[in-house]
Amino acid sequence: MGNIIDGKGMSEDLQERIKEEASMFTREHGRPPGLAVIVVGDDPASKVYVRNKEKACERAGIISFNYRLSSDKTHDEVVRLIKELNLRNDVDGILVQLPLPSHLDADQVLMTIDPSKDVDGFHPYNLGRLLMGLPTVIPCTPQGIMYMLRASGIDPDGKDAVVIGRSNIVGKPVATLLTLSHATVTICHSHTKDLDDKVKAADILISAVGKPRMVKGEWIKQGAVVIDVGITRDKDGKLTGDVDFDVARKRASLITPVPGGVGPMTIAMLLMNTITLAKGHVS
Ligand code: GUN
Repeated sequence: MGNIIDGKGMSEDLQERIKEEASMFTREHGRPPGLAVIVVGDDPASKVYVRNKEKACERAGIISFNYRLSSDKTHDEVVRLIKELNLRNDVDGILVQLPLPSHLDADQVLMTIDPSKDVDGFHPYNLGRLLMGLPTVIPCTPQGIMYMLRASGIDPDGKDAVVIGRSNIVGKPVATLLTLSHATVTICHSHTKDLDDKVKAADILISAVGKPRMVKGEWIKQGAVVIDVGITRDKDGKLTGDVDFDVARKRASLITPVPGGVGPMTIAMLLMNTITLAKGHVS
């Protein structure tokens, strides 16, 4: 595959290991690790993501409890379900798929998840610990990105890293993890001036925007490592990343494809976080 980081292959290898861990947990504790997955409304992309997460749980021997709620559910109804799940002994992780319908305040909903069941690491308690560099649940996509860098022999120490996107899900946590790994990090977003100049200086580029091919191949520094988190369906229905892959690939030392890069790693990290939380609940 040359300079392509094979996220799909890496994820499959990890999922084999996770399956063994899940089976060991089940033997030792008489129940499988359990993940509750809540989707509110009918965002088409969310439905696909969640189906993939549930299929991966099944393959790994993790039981998933699936809650599909209609888009008219109120804040109190969603919170009531989360509070029930917080108390259940067979549920180790709780995932609320984002985005939520606009009448629900995602931050307020996420804050009702017991931090010890916060499989996405989105609760302020866990995000705060992450910022402090303390052991915590690390959000799945940022954790998958750091895993891919490590597995590809890339040490961020002293490198110039540029993160495009400042979401709580990807941009902010991955910038934190890169900083904790001693990279010099620039966070870019929709108000950033001269984005091309910032990208041209990046030894490591992480793009998490969701705008097909907005990062031009010519912006990529020779030898840079490019991690493309964007995944958008273009006009022809083809899944496309944020980075103009064909040109960027010729300049990058390593680059992730879309699909088959970051996406599968996010799923592997979700399974891993579920097992980690499960172990914490019984010891
Ligand atoms: N929406 C997009 N990415 C994610 C994710 O990693 N977790 C959840 N819960 N929702 C998402």
